[in-house]
Amino acid sequence: MKILVINGPNLNFVGIREPELYGHQTYADLVESIHGWAAELGLEVEVYQSNHEGDLVTRIQEAYGNTDGIVINAAAYTHTSVAILDALKAVAIPAVEVHLTDIRTRESFRQHSYVSMAAEKMICGKGFDGYREALEYFAQKQHGND
Ligand code: DQA
Repeated sequence: MKILVINGPNLNFVGIREPELYGHQTYADLVESIHGWAAELGLEVEVYQSNHEGDLVTRIQEAYGNTDGIVINAAAYTHTSVAILDALKAVAIPAVEVHLTDIRTRESFRQHSYVSMAAEKMICGKGFDGYREALEYFAQKQHGND
């Protein structure tokens, strides 16, 4: 099972940005953890990060026909991007939305998510472990289909 993990703007600054919210571990640590969890779960994984909305849309389109699941933290674009929502709907690849922080308890502008409209599940407020949970969700699906 092939999973694409997509991270949006400023997530490459995790470990530097607002550590009181996002923690002290770096983006490189996150990518390493994702690869480790995927290996444990028997998933093939690619991790992609961009600060640009159009690049995120293009990467989602490129997953069409060759990817079984998308784990997406669209970061700030979660709350603004109809283009990312449309791309997720267009490719119709099962998607799980992840956020490091609990967006439901933060500023009101973070409480609406376009991504949620195309996602099977949303995991938030669990830090890096949210990505692990998202990968586990796909691994369980895979075993359900065995
Ligand atoms: C975030 C939450 C978003 O509101 C914010 O813009 C981010 C990160 C999170 O992972 O908690 O950049 O998606």
